[in-house]
Amino acid sequence: MPTTASVLRRTGGRSVKSIVYDEETIAAKVAELGAAIGTAYPDGELLVLGLLKGSFIFLGDLVRRIERPLQVDFLVASSYGAGTTSSGDVRLLYDPETRLEGKHIVLVEDIVDSGNTVRKLIALLSERKPASLAVCALLDKVAMHEPMPEVRFVGFQAPTAFLVGYGLDHAEDFRHLPFIADLT
Ligand code: IMP
Ligand code: MG
Repeated sequence: MPTTASVLRRTGGRSVKSIVYDEETIAAKVAELGAAIGTAYPDGELLVLGLLKGSFIFLGDLVRRIERPLQVDFLVASSYGAGTTSSGDVRLLYDPETRLEGKHIVLVEDIVDSGNTVRKLIALLSERKPASLAVCALLDKVAMHEPMPEVRFVGFQAPTAFLVGYGLDHAEDFRHLPFIADLT
């Protein structure tokens, strides 16, 4: 666990309620997810598609734990802005350049909350005729949505709190924290 002083140095003095997942816990889970993805796709082309910005750290760690050939691309969807609740409006601001047709797609998301983002992106991406389409989410607030079979790979079932760090932000702050903390 990081010391209080090292947390406050990184946040500029803003204290967090608690550290929910520390670096070691996250690393072990990411290794498990990478192994599971490697096993789930024995054949075919695999495209790991990171949803920016929230997945940037997770994606970087995850692909290094997948022991098979793969390609990486990104997409950008609009998100919460400065608030902490979902508006339900998801727009695509950057579209992957890579061809999706015939490939196994794993969409990498930092956290599933209401599930709106993932649902809309799944609908959009499935029009491009991938061989398969699944979501890998580091965190899933399972209490906030109906079961989602597309979310095939889940790191942690997250509490209904506002989490920051390891890519997750609040109004663009805190993405760089190496751990995941409860801000509320
Ligand atoms: P959904 O569309 O309601 O599932 O929200 C998913 C998106 O909201 C994620 O990609 C995050 O960017 C953001 N989000 C949801 N919950 C949190 C949180 O606890 N901390 C930071 N961002 C969150
Ligand atoms: Mg966000």
